[in-house]
This record gives sequence, C-alpha cells and structure tokens, in this order.
Amino acid sequence: MKPAVLVTKRIYPSAIDYLSGRTDLDYHESDHSMPAGELLERLRGKQGAVGQLTDKFDAEVISALPDLKVISNVAVGFDNIDVAAATERGIAVTNTPEVLTDTTADFAFTLLMAAARRLVEADNFLRAGKWSQWRINLLCGADIHHATLGIVGMGRIGQSLARRGLGFEMRVLYSDVQRAAPDIERELRLQYVPFETVLKESDFISLHVPLLPATRGLIGAAQLAMMKNSAILINTSRGPVVDEPALAEALAAGEIAGAGLDVFEREPEVEPRLLEMQNVVLAPHIASASVATRTKMCLMAAENCVAALAGERPPNLVNTSLFDN
Ligand code: DGY
Repeated sequence: MKPAVLVTKRIYPSAIDYLSGRTDLDYHESDHSMPAGELLERLRGKQGAVGQLTDKFDAEVISALPDLKVISNVAVGFDNIDVAAATERGIAVTNTPEVLTDTTADFAFTLLMAAARRLVEADNFLRAGKWSQWRINLLCGADIHHATLGIVGMGRIGQSLARRGLGFEMRVLYSDVQRAAPDIERELRLQYVPFETVLKESDFISLHVPLLPATRGLIGAAQLAMMKNSAILINTSRGPVVDEPALAEALAAGEIAGAGLDVFEREPEVEPRLLEMQNVVLAPHIASASVATRTKMCLMAAENCVAALAGERPPNLVNTSLFDN
C-alpha cells in the first residue's frame, strides 16, 4: 500500500507528478492555506505532509497525528514546525536548503540596491507625472560600491550575499555565533567582528539568521540606535527578527535612512507606518521566488517526503538525531 500524503497548498506540477506515482496523494490544490482545524482534519491518517511556512505544525497538531512520519517543509526555514515535538514523536522534519541560496541573496541585494538608489520612489515619481526636467539633486541616493556591507549570519545565504558585495568592491563585515572557515573568510574578504561593530560601522546591514528564541527581536530600538543615520537595513530572513514598530520609529526619527523588507512580523500584515514611508522598499516574502528555484524547492520537498516514508534518511533532514543512532 502506498503511504498517504497531504500536500497542504499549491506546489509546482513536477513535484505533484513525482508524488502521484509514489504516494496515495491528497492534494489541496489552492493558493490559500487551510484554516488550522481543516488542516488537522485533512492530515488525520496521513503518513506524510508536504507543507509550507504558512502551515503551523505545533506540538498540539503533532500530538493529534499519530500516523504522521514526515513533515516536509517547502522552505529552508522551519520555524512553523515544533521540531522538538516532532523529534520526540519520531517524525522526520525536512527543509529545502541550497537550491534557494543564490536566488535569495540576489533578492537581498536587489532590495539593497533599490533602497539605496530609491528605485521604487523614482518609479512612482515618474508614473505620477512629476518629472518635469533633469535636476542635479533629483532622487539622489547612496552609493553601493565601496560602501560597508554588514552581514548578520554568515551561513549559505550570507556568504552568497557577501560574494555579491565583493563584486561591488564593498568592505564586508559579519557577525555570527560561529565564525566562518578561514578559507571562506579569505575568499570573500570577510572581517569577523562583534555584532555591535556590524551595527555601528555598516552602511547596509543585511540579516541572514534563522528565527530562534535568541534571534527574535534581534534588531530592536537599542540596535537601531547604534546604526549610522545613513544606514539601510535589509531583511530577507524572518520578520520577527526585527521589532517592526521600533523600526518604524527609527525611520521616522531619522535614526537610520531606509530599509528593504521582504519579511514581516505578522505576515501578511505590515506595520502601517512602514507603508507610508518612501524610504522603505517592501516585498511580500518573495526572496526565493524565481520560477526555477521555487520549482526545485517543491521537487526537493517531494523527494524528502518520499525518502522518509521509504524509511530512508531524507536528503535534507532537519532533526538529524532521528537517524544518528
Ligand atoms: C524559506 O525558504 O524559508 C523562505 O522564507 C521562503 O523561500
């Protein structure tokens, strides 16, 4: 008998094709998440779940699903899943790293450039018919080349962003709980510095940490106050890493110059004051959203799910302790 799998929300067709032949598939082919109660009902009796970051697999949900063997997240982040609760129950949790690294770094750099050079503001200005003539000070922004790029979190995406910074001849500072390997530091010309130094010395600060208790609210009023008045903050990690009301305050007070945000504390809600600010570039959590990358993420999640249900160690296992013994 094939294992029963729920795909909680629309994914790319090649992943559905992969799952169809190998599982007894229940596909919720919709762009809208199911309400929590409906999701739970539909998961009952399933061995596998291919879910997305909008689906909450908390301890309560996990304990109500005795048949579940794998939660395969179509995302590199997995803060929507209570991994400890899953591990206790012997449920494999998987994610989709690597395939989205460069695409996400591209987008972090896109936000950086758009905020620095006021691209969205310029586009709005022109479309509104406000362009009367060339002016010496029209929409002047900040230089990117030779500026200091501060990266908080030097994992895969942080490194990929540093590589882009290098191409723009930027000085790259970084902080992390763990120092990068010497060859990486050499190749990317990285300077490992305390978090406070990143905050104080960077022209652009980009966040690349997972959402953990220790990183929730990592950037709050105190950290924003340490940044240069000309600094631009970029966040493509997770919204709750930044205290959004504190960010709005800091921007309104001119404590920092701008921001480029792809993620928000209470998605899809956005702190209303940010919506009014011309010096903030906003995007709806799309940093990994190229067709090629999203297709790969879906297929990877499908493969992780099928491997786990076959009793194999899935290629992208998060709770590795399940297979360590
Ligand atoms: C992730 O993968 O965690 C992103 O936030 C969505 O690509």
